[in-house]
Amino acid sequence: MTSEILQETSPYHIPVMVNEVLDLLITDRQGIYLDGTVGLGGHATYILNTLSDSARLFGLDRDEKALAICKERLSGSGAFSCHHLSYDNLPQLLKQEGVTTVNGILLDLGLSSCQLDSHRGFSYQNSGDLDMRFDSSSGQTAAQLIHQTSADDLADIFYNFGEERLSRRIAKSVKDMNSMESIGDLKEAIRRSTPPNNRQKTLARIFQSLRIAVNGELDRLQHFMDSFIEFLTPGGRIVIISYHSLEDRMVKHSFKSLKKEKLLSVLTKKPLPPTKEEQTKNNRSRSAKLRAGERI
Ligand SMILES: C[S@@+](CC[C@H](N)C(=O)[O-])C[C@H]1O[C@@H](n2cnc3c(N)ncnc32)[C@H](O)[C@@H]1O
Repeated sequence: MTSEILQETSPYHIPVMVNEVLDLLITDRQGIYLDGTVGLGGHATYILNTLSDSARLFGLDRDEKALAICKERLSGSGAFSCHHLSYDNLPQLLKQEGVTTVNGILLDLGLSSCQLDSHRGFSYQNSGDLDMRFDSSSGQTAAQLIHQTSADDLADIFYNFGEERLSRRIAKSVKDMNSMESIGDLKEAIRRSTPPNNRQKTLARIFQSLRIAVNGELDRLQHFMDSFIEFLTPGGRIVIISYHSLEDRMVKHSFKSLKKEKLLSVLTKKPLPPTKEEQTKNNRSRSAKLRAGERI
């Protein structure tokens, strides 16, 4: 099935690789679909435009603020419902909705531009508290996590989730700070412990690693990868866009083992990157990697 680029005028978030997502995800226009990271509804808008009125689309997100905007934006569509849930709660959601399998699942991992632009601690380019929770209603903030974690364990977080080579030195500096409540405090600890060249990359790695830890991102993804297959209709598709190598590696290995078990046919031998044109137009798309598979 081919799809056309639809014009979208959202001030919020430009969805990534929309044409590729629609082409790979939708096999039955009357089917049941799940957008596990619906965010502000960027992809969901295009998916709903492609589906017929009798189809269903479940949109899930951990961020209630994003969901509220998404709900308002897509309220005109009877096919759509949104749910404040993590995508790894897929079995519970489907059970509650009386659905056994779906025709397609989309995960667009990472952050929305709206979260990046917020003052919730996700970006080192903004001011604000060190929060970093997708779900502001539960769990530890980044500041609380730092307070309750030893320098050694913090260094492991920086190394394992940020691939940061100066992890020990930075962790010590973070723990030595008198105050560690704001984005500015964390930046100052990094400034004190790292050379100025490549500082931006260090900041990005440390912020990424804390965000992954605060939200349990890799555990949730692994949990989902271990269980999604039984909820896909034969011939149904899974499409996952990831933005860093830790996630992409997890998706790749999971697809490989499902292929070995003859449960999944992998549709993307190598991960698809966005076109050069998209990368130029949307800076955020540059690190995207899309992998897709079909339930056998
Ligand atoms: C890149 S954005 C999605 C953007 C969306 N595709 C769009 O076009 O508007 C990623 C979203 O995933 C959400 N998210 C992250 N981890 C999640 C999880 N475990 N379950 C559900 N949503 C999650 C974030 O809150 C964020 O809104």
